[in-house]
Amino acid sequence: MKSPPFSMLVPLLMAALFSFSWAALPHENFLHCLSLRSNGSSSISNLIFTRRNSSYESVLESRLWNLRFNSTDTPKPLVIVTPTQISHIQATIYCSRKHGLQTRIRSGGHDYEGLSFVARVPFVIIDLFNFRSVDIDVENRVAWVQSGAILGEFYYRIAEKSTTLAFPGGVFHSIGVGGYISGGGFGLLFRKHGTAGDNVLDAQLIDVNGRILDRKSMGEDLFWAIRGGGGGSFGIVLAWKLRLVPVPANVTVFTVGRTLEQNATELVHRWQYIAPNLPDDVYASIQFRAMNSTQDGRKTVVADFIAFFLGTTDELLSLMEQRFPELGLTKQDCTEMSWIESILYNNGIRNQPLEILLNRTYRSPVNVPYYKIKSDYVKEPISEIGLNGLLSRLTDEVATSTVILFFAYGGIMDRISEHATPFPHRAGNLYKICYNTGWLAEDNVNSQKYLDWARTTYSYMSPFVSKYPREAYLNYRDLDIGSNNIHYTSYEQAHIWGRKYFKDNFDRLVHAKTKIDPQNFFRHEQSIPPLI
Ligand SMILES: Cc1cc2nc3c(=O)[nH]c(=O)nc-3n(C[C@H](O)[C@H](O)[C@H](O)COP(=O)(O)OP(=O)(O)OC[C@H]3O[C@@H](n4cnc5c(N)ncnc54)[C@H](O)[C@@H]3O)c2cc1C
Ligand SMILES: *[C@@H]1O[C@H](CO)[C@@H](O)[C@H](O)[C@H]1NC(C)=O
Ligand SMILES: *[C@@H]1O[C@H](CO)[C@@H](O)[C@H](O)[C@H]1NC(C)=O
Ligand SMILES: *[C@@H]1O[C@H](CO)[C@@H](O)[C@H](O)[C@H]1NC(C)=O
Ligand SMILES: *[C@@H]1O[C@H](CO)[C@@H](O)[C@H](O)[C@H]1NC(C)=O
Ligand SMILES: *[C@@H]1O[C@H](CO)[C@@H](O)[C@H](O)[C@H]1NC(C)=O
Ligand SMILES: *[C@@H]1O[C@H](CO)[C@@H](O)[C@H](O)[C@H]1NC(C)=O
Ligand SMILES: *[C@@H]1O[C@H](CO)[C@@H](O)[C@H](O)[C@H]1NC(C)=O
Repeated sequence: MKSPPFSMLVPLLMAALFSFSWAALPHENFLHCLSLRSNGSSSISNLIFTRRNSSYESVLESRLWNLRFNSTDTPKPLVIVTPTQISHIQATIYCSRKHGLQTRIRSGGHDYEGLSFVARVPFVIIDLFNFRSVDIDVENRVAWVQSGAILGEFYYRIAEKSTTLAFPGGVFHSIGVGGYISGGGFGLLFRKHGTAGDNVLDAQLIDVNGRILDRKSMGEDLFWAIRGGGGGSFGIVLAWKLRLVPVPANVTVFTVGRTLEQNATELVHRWQYIAPNLPDDVYASIQFRAMNSTQDGRKTVVADFIAFFLGTTDELLSLMEQRFPELGLTKQDCTEMSWIESILYNNGIRNQPLEILLNRTYRSPVNVPYYKIKSDYVKEPISEIGLNGLLSRLTDEVATSTVILFFAYGGIMDRISEHATPFPHRAGNLYKICYNTGWLAEDNVNSQKYLDWARTTYSYMSPFVSKYPREAYLNYRDLDIGSNNIHYTSYEQAHIWGRKYFKDNFDRLVHAKTKIDPQNFFRHEQSIPPLI
């Protein structure tokens, strides 16, 4: 047998070497390291998934919420670890560091840019979904909740024990507690009780050296940083001690739709003056979407005025009659229900048992599978002409599956210092805008046209929204506003997006990062950089 000429072998050798040094080697060594580090009763082997395991894909996809990141060209992890014990997490951190692999931490997988499960370097996912215990202490009104629990699970466990306690968290039931609180966390009770981060009493964090820290041992700077400074920068938060807050046995909700023909624009214009000044007991938002007119079938826009109120229908009716008579709210528009039922209601889930809150894969009918999110803060009311310009964009063909939301600020948000937590969007904001550009599976080949629509809409809005910086909400993660070079993270580069999310709090975050993770092991496209 003749061996192939050397010149033909070279590319083969190169290819072998390349894949060896780039992928196979570190990842095999990493697996070997893991098996050495975790032994005996804490065996980790059945918690590790590589492409060779048949369940790799299903584990990856089961907490991959935005299907935009389920394409074949989305970079995939070399390994997914689903730890059940703290020692597994410590071993994974140790071995990732030793073998130069980046890690991504995943709790609920709802990151709007997929940063918990996508990286453009060889990487490992630590998926915390087995860390999901929830302990409710009704008497002391506190809860210890592990990061891998979803909000729905947490709420369900509260409601099991009390109908008059709640947590000021988000509506969407399958969001992970870990990412949600790390990013600030706003929801139905935020005008009354602040962000989720404002209601954290203690936490358990694993740092880059595998140490387990609590509030006392981590120190106040780091404890401050993890309550809104964004996940994936400081370490892995395993669990949170949270303050539960009182709610009445029944709350009142309404959703009142008005189309452009029913003077929606004038009403929205008025709302800007009224909603931010409503009592703390009211949560008020507006959701805009295109629809076909019921009269002539022509395309129009409907503004759904939404409220959640810690009180009765009668109280809410009289309040709205006083403050916002133009809306024409009637008793029939209002429904009384328990706080936990209002979570289902606001998820667009009707006539389903509460147990649906425990279902991690359930997608409510209002959830569009592909989306791009952007956010803005509004400090001065927008003119009717300005509003019309925004709303008319929703009648574009590409915006069929898109919603735009306004969330009234004010209430306690005006009275909590901008520096209390990393979340800086407090006094001076009338409302926040969320642009949720969505599309369906069959349109995903044309995703660029939806992204373009999102970006031109955002640029249309620039005269009307916050400036210097143009503020954005971290949990509505948007890589368009800037991102780190993943190989070399510089302060200057991070400062561009960092001040939009954190304003002046950015520097204190950099300080906390420099102390806890100076080598920048925990990093991603929008992680806090250490000072070198
Ligand atoms: C449909 C939908 C509705 C939403 N509604 C709201 C809302 O009402 N209010 C609101 O505030 N936000 C809302 N969000 C945004 C949501 O809060 C954020 O996307 C949040 O980061 C999701 O948390 P997660 O654990 O599911 O995400 P993941 O994707 O798992 O994590 C998000 C980020 O945090 C990091 N991280 C995750 N877990 C940990 C941990 N334990 N320790 C350290 N870092 C960690 C990840 O690495 C990643 O960088 C919504 C999102 C979606 C998709
Ligand atoms: C597991 O490994 C650790 C060190 O990594 C060692 O201290 C321990 O004794 C080992 N346990 C068993 C059961 O082999
Ligand atoms: C994945 O495959 C490896 C190698 O065959 C095996 O050791 C491991 O237990 C598998 N993981 C799971 C979760 O089954
Ligand atoms: C994600 O992509 C995989 C592979 O193409 C596909 O089998 C799966 O159905 C997709 N998931 C969803 C929810 O569409
Ligand atoms: C809309 O406003 C106009 C002018 O203010 C008024 O005449 C009309 O009745 C309003 N329409 C509705 C549906 O409220
Ligand atoms: C609205 O009308 C368009 C065109 O007439 C039609 O294709 C579309 O399905 C309608 N949408 C709804 C929600 O009825
Ligand atoms: C709450 O509202 C429901 C539905 O209107 C009603 O049946 C129930 O009696 C109310 N409970 C309280 C404590 O008011
Ligand atoms: C959870 O929801 C999914 C999607 O709707 C459904 O297929 C599944 O059966 C549900 N699981 C349970 C345990 O109810």
